[in-house]
Amino acid sequence: MAVQISPSILSADFARLAEAAAMVPNADWLHVDVMDNHFVPNLTFGLPVVESLLKATSTPLDCHLMIDDPDRWAPAYAEAGVGSVTIHVEAARAPVRTLRQIRAAGARAGLALNPATAVEPYEDLLGEIDMLLLMTVEPGFGGQRFLDIVLPKIRRARALLDGRGGQVWLQVDGGVSDETIERCAAAGADVFVAGSAVYDAEDPARAIDRLRATAEK
Ligand code: DX5
Ligand code: ZN
Repeated sequence: MAVQISPSILSADFARLAEAAAMVPNADWLHVDVMDNHFVPNLTFGLPVVESLLKATSTPLDCHLMIDDPDRWAPAYAEAGVGSVTIHVEAARAPVRTLRQIRAAGARAGLALNPATAVEPYEDLLGEIDMLLLMTVEPGFGGQRFLDIVLPKIRRARALLDGRGGQVWLQVDGGVSDETIERCAAAGADVFVAGSAVYDAEDPARAIDRLRATAEK
């Protein structure tokens, strides 16, 4: 699968989200980190802001729900018209139902795993999803250091996904930079979230081009 880059607006200026979207016309997705101050110790935004963003950009939104009770909220994001909705397996009580609701509403369904969560227990769920998200930092904040301990899991997930036909995308999120993207790509990731590496750069669009070129090497 071709490399895809999903810049995270968590590292953008929240008072200028439309401008942040316009800065990255070469992005495949815009990664939107929804945090509730319960599942993670940080608070960002919810559905009203996402609905406004949908009107402000034609780039598809890649919504990463770091919230308790995603079963309750995820379908509404999909119904609003975002491209992809990812829920955390650590938070979902009925992931199969919720993933099916996301798909039924016309969005891609994603399942996220924290660094300490193994992929193998969820092997049977891989047929229910369009994307597996492996966190490469503990979720909650941008600008954290990439956790190399996740690399073996990326490789194991790649083998599992390839064994099933390889249609499920493998996303990594956290600490992805010019320095770390190469080993993520080598381990088998194909969708790369980057927050600070894009929005802290002088030229965010050029930062994306650079990340893409490095991942494609
Ligand atoms: C962290 C978020 C990430 C964050 C990544 O919990 O899920 O999407 O924005 O930021 P960087 O790329 O700076 O680690
Ligand atoms: Zn994220």
